Amino acid sequence: MILRSFRFVDLESPVEYFNSWLTPVPHFFVRNHMHEPSELDASGWRLSLGGEVEKPLTLSLAELSKMETHSIVNTLECAGNGRSLQRPQVPGIQWGKGAVGTARFSGPRLRDALRRAGVKPTGKHVMFRGLDEVPGKVPPFIRSIPIEKALDADTLIATHMNGSPLTRHHGFPARALVPGWIGAASCKWLAEIKVLDAEFVGNFMSPGYRFPNQPVKPGDAVKPEDTHPLTALSVKSVISGPSDDATLKAGKVVVHGAAWAGEADIVKVEISADGGATWDIAKLGHDQAHYAWRLWSYDWKPAKAGDYTIQSRATDSQGRTQPATPVWNPSGYLYNAIDQVNVHVS
Ligand code: MTE
Repeated sequence: MILRSFRFVDLESPVEYFNSWLTPVPHFFVRNHMHEPSELDASGWRLSLGGEVEKPLTLSLAELSKMETHSIVNTLECAGNGRSLQRPQVPGIQWGKGAVGTARFSGPRLRDALRRAGVKPTGKHVMFRGLDEVPGKVPPFIRSIPIEKALDADTLIATHMNGSPLTRHHGFPARALVPGWIGAASCKWLAEIKVLDAEFVGNFMSPGYRFPNQPVKPGDAVKPEDTHPLTALSVKSVISGPSDDATLKAGKVVVHGAAWAGEADIVKVEISADGGATWDIAKLGHDQAHYAWRLWSYDWKPAKAGDYTIQSRATDSQGRTQPATPVWNPSGYLYNAIDQVNVHVS
């Protein structure tokens, strides 16, 4: 794993790991805004559910595990993935391409817990608070999602990842899993769920994780009212092999990678080996699920020795296609430009 921050553990997956549909947990990126909780005692852990509800309740892990379980294969991507590729550069963790991974998340549906508590008609947003250890005066990592997404049958209180209990890095003993949305929506080490009558007001809702409503240029002043909270992920593909700067033997080269589109499905991935003049269709992998990436591969037969730029471009079921140039924004969110690697064929 690539260490992007040591103080608060931030680990990136090398793109070469994107060769299995489910990412093994030890290869799954980690994004922490603050210290992970040092004490996590499963027997003493409680999840409270309150706010705009008829009957506030508290659930233990044993009670949570008695609720009906649902599983979702979800591609989780940090909104800042690819930030280091923005030009001009923007502040924040300088993620390369690997703050993304796919896992099978399991646990009760959030809506079953909300229904048990009885959401009042005034309940419009659902706030999550985790057990992170907040250093000094830093605002706590608290965010909210709209009630419609919270009541979606696929939004979970996840306790398991790829069939095993969540590890500490990924939110043990329970995390929110808001499929298809930016990773920040899926709060780890869940301790409190609160139904609110309005979007939560706090640093990680504003100015954090917001996107300008109109295109902006570096240096432009962006007013908070001209931005909106980030929700679903963009359409995107990444080449996981051959590696950038690889020297390849002439003959058949298998170009491969992954493509995802948040709440939409991937319909095609195209490959160009001539700087975008012509594009050919890649073969999509067999494994698929609504919120999960598709692996893809393309048999490339370079005509002659030389230097090549190989590009990948995904299109989704909403008709979105990766742009040739990234959409610049002050925090470098949702980077999704056409991916490329440079290779030398000997
Ligand atoms: N939840 C808490 N409590 N604290 C955090 O710092 N980081 C969020 C989200 N949930 C975070 C959190 C962000 S920004 C991302 S991208 C995902 O967790 C990353 O999940 P992972 O570390 O399991 O890959």
